[in-house]
Amino acid sequence: MSVKETKFLTTADSDLKIAADIIKMGGNVILPTETVYGLGGDALNPNAVVNIFKAKGRPGDNPLILHISHINMLSEIASEVPEKAKVLMEKFWPGPLTIIFKKCKNVPYETTGGLETAAVRMPDNKVARRLIELSGTPIAAPSANLSGKPSPTTFKHCKEDMNGRVDAIIDGGDCKIGVESTVIDLSGEIPIILRPGEITKEQITDVIGETQVVTSIKSGEAPKSPGLKYKHYAPKAEVYILSGTANQAKEYVEAQAKKENCGVLIFDEFSEFNNVKTISLGSIENPKDAMHRLFTAMRRMDEMGVDVIYAPEISDNGMWSAVKNRLYRGAANRIIDLNTELNKNLSKSEDKIDNKIKKVLFVCTGNTCRSPMAEEIFNTECKKCGISAMADSAGIFADGSPASKNSVAVMEECGCNIDGKKSKQLIGDIIKDADIIICMTSSHKQMIQSAFSAVPILKEKILKDVYTFSDLLNTSAEVPDPFGGDIQVYRFCRDALKEYICNLLESDLFKNKN
Ligand code: TXA
Ligand code: MG
Repeated sequence: MSVKETKFLTTADSDLKIAADIIKMGGNVILPTETVYGLGGDALNPNAVVNIFKAKGRPGDNPLILHISHINMLSEIASEVPEKAKVLMEKFWPGPLTIIFKKCKNVPYETTGGLETAAVRMPDNKVARRLIELSGTPIAAPSANLSGKPSPTTFKHCKEDMNGRVDAIIDGGDCKIGVESTVIDLSGEIPIILRPGEITKEQITDVIGETQVVTSIKSGEAPKSPGLKYKHYAPKAEVYILSGTANQAKEYVEAQAKKENCGVLIFDEFSEFNNVKTISLGSIENPKDAMHRLFTAMRRMDEMGVDVIYAPEISDNGMWSAVKNRLYRGAANRIIDLNTELNKNLSKSEDKIDNKIKKVLFVCTGNTCRSPMAEEIFNTECKKCGISAMADSAGIFADGSPASKNSVAVMEECGCNIDGKKSKQLIGDIIKDADIIICMTSSHKQMIQSAFSAVPILKEKILKDVYTFSDLLNTSAEVPDPFGGDIQVYRFCRDALKEYICNLLESDLFKNKN
């Protein structure tokens, strides 16, 4: 893309008017919010939105959040506002909570990454709201980092990533919170938190009742959220999570520091590391501090030129879930078990693939759309190619429902019948039975890892044999949930699954198996 002359603006109203004029003319402005800086553009102008993706270098299928300054703006974006959303908005807006709604027609697919839903939030940051108000339109704004880098929480970060790529950057100082908003999807019977943030599951459950998290340790992305992929939040250095005591971590990292240029993220309570670069995330008692410091710490480590960053394990409750989510994604879920020294690098699939794959288990959320389609496609293709492997499928939250109508329909279009196939809950026995478990998204993988790796007989299997397509194939793709989409969305999903499965069957995993 061509280099732009980026204006640096203050938060004075006269500067915000300049910024608003840029937005109105379809340009891109980086604005402060209470979570992280956003790279904004007119959410209803497809060109402005396309330029956001270009500036970030972000894949176009990753939907954006629409930021509003007043509740009145919601009616031009959301076609339905469920009761639970009203309760959440009342309690948490303005603030760091993003709610997914069915979208109105005038929200372009460029903004929603092709989805029929739109993610909306009303930021608490006054500068952000003033800019939206002056612009007179909802502002679509992903975090203002270059795609894959940690989100920017200071003006300096924004300049580093985006100078020359956007029309203006507003200097709003440090972001108060430091990690992105909580994202919640209310389209199903039970609300699902797609991304943890400062507003916790516990707070949400308090006001709307049972809520599930597709994230926490499990981290990140949701079945319905095509966004986050493993590379998110990653500094240049490789990040590894150290699983063990603080003393074990000290011993391990001090030894590593003699062999490699590494740094370590610590808590104030840890004793000092000798000859190792350390940055503290604050007190182990204070998740707010850790949220606030995390992204800056990752960028700082890069500035210090380390090749490897070691980070502590983080617990999975309250606001810690948000910290864990970002950190473990930054680490691409690579966890070093300091007790056994197992699994130096979980993401390297080559290490773990043996030559005896007979039973494949596909896993998605409800086992009514993606995984039953994958199972059927796999079994059909195996028959065609004479490969003697078999697939099964299960869901992380399955309840015995039949395969969805559209899944049945699109499978029928290619001569397969999954009508009446009942969804099956993923349990330990099913996992035990499979040689390899293939998840539709990285969040499914993380959920399986967090739910089952404590089961002694499954522990090793969970660490070795659970993958996403992107771990196994040369693709970064996840398989987003078509649920709620029209028939065309299901066709895309079926075709993507078919492509991945055919590629798998041609890969070394299955070649020469017969
Ligand atoms: O705090 C925040 O949310 C910041 C500030 C700037 O507001 N924004 C932010 O945007 O983090 P972004 O684009 O980096 O993350 C938006 C997340 C992505 O994971 C995306 O996949 C998800 O929200 N998302 C957006 N629209 C969605 C939709 N319609 N359905 C499901 N997930 C959606
Ligand atoms: Mg982001």
